[in-house]
Amino acid sequence: MAVPSSQKQWTVTGTGKGLETLQYGDGEVPKVGDNEVLIKLHAASLNYRDLIIPRGQYPFPTNFPVVAASDGAGEVIDVGPKVSKWKKGDKVVTLFNQGHQFGAIDIAATGTGVGGVVDGTLRQYAVYNETGLVRAPKNLSYAEAATLTCAGLTSWNALYGLKAIKPGDSVLVQGTGGVSLFALQFAKAAGATVIATTSSKDKEEIVKKLGADHVINYREDVNWGETARNLTGGVGVDIVIEVGGAGTLEQSLKAIKFEGTIAIIGFLGGAKIEASIIECLVRICTARGVYVGSRQQMEEMVAAIEANDIHPVLDSKVFTLEQAKEAYEYQWAKGHVGKISITITHNPSKSSPSEASLRSHL
Ligand SMILES: NC(=O)c1ccc[n+]([C@@H]2O[C@H](COP(=O)([O-])OP(=O)(O)OC[C@H]3O[C@@H](n4cnc5c(N)ncnc54)[C@H](OP(=O)(O)O)[C@@H]3O)[C@@H](O)[C@H]2O)c1
Repeated sequence: MAVPSSQKQWTVTGTGKGLETLQYGDGEVPKVGDNEVLIKLHAASLNYRDLIIPRGQYPFPTNFPVVAASDGAGEVIDVGPKVSKWKKGDKVVTLFNQGHQFGAIDIAATGTGVGGVVDGTLRQYAVYNETGLVRAPKNLSYAEAATLTCAGLTSWNALYGLKAIKPGDSVLVQGTGGVSLFALQFAKAAGATVIATTSSKDKEEIVKKLGADHVINYREDVNWGETARNLTGGVGVDIVIEVGGAGTLEQSLKAIKFEGTIAIIGFLGGAKIEASIIECLVRICTARGVYVGSRQQMEEMVAAIEANDIHPVLDSKVFTLEQAKEAYEYQWAKGHVGKISITITHNPSKSSPSEASLRSHL
């Protein structure tokens, strides 16, 4: 397969007030080193994190300019001479923190985030170390597989990383974004009871269809943490998937069971928290910060996705690589459900002049 020398890509050039630093243009197709793999990307997906990187609100390391987005799925088209894990034709998904292979994350690995420090997936071709990729689940399309890198692995880590979820446990998931819907699906597959919250009447039906046992509208019921606790007979839930931050942590503390775990994942409602960590003593619970997950956890997640034939929830709106900025705006407006997918094509008529000219000589 002939590989073009240049490609289309979205680059974050720095931080600003909005998306003005997210720019579309031509970039070089990187060449493989000894232990590296070249992949032809077919799909990418966005995370809230991608929306806040250009806005300068992301709390983990960044290094500009950087090709945007962490999530991508594609096909191996070239391997370096020392690569042993992959061969041409393998279908793979990107690992979020390239240096987080197994066990606890360390400081060095927090500086290896794809789309933050390491060039990301909003492009047609990418090179990663052979250990920075995971086999795509056999039951998923490229679009579905591309959603696993960040939201999928984060919710898997939240449920299995500290004290593994057990059948019969109860899990509270907040809202209908990517992380929360993965957590809903994984928790149901584990045999847990799921209490889901949402702000939208229409989305209530969607989470019920996905298997949520109880749904609370957090706009109508501002004391939803107490309501969730009551739904468990007053005992509380074993795990909270805390994505709201300000405004939600207080309610999560009301919902949690003694010795339960609040997985602190996001701050969709803002980062200024009123609730005090000392509440963890009164509630006898663990508040655990989660930062995506390791390659080992991702491989375990892929096995579970195949065994349970889990399909990530994709929003009905799909974008092309060229339209990626519209996808950012669409997710920012919070009208979506689950993951937003970006299709990456390699159609010579739509590609960069150098790719088209190379192909015309084949
Ligand atoms: N720590 C990590 O490793 C990690 C990894 C991935 C994501 N995150 C973080 O986790 C959060 C979720 O990410 P995502 O990609 O899943 O986001 P997302 O898909 O953009 O989630 C948006 C949805 O979240 C719900 N939501 C918004 N504000 C809320 C609030 N105040 N309370 C409850 N629900 C609220 C809404 O659902 P309804 O419309 O149904 O109300 C909204 O549609 C973000 O803060 C992100 O940065 C962290």
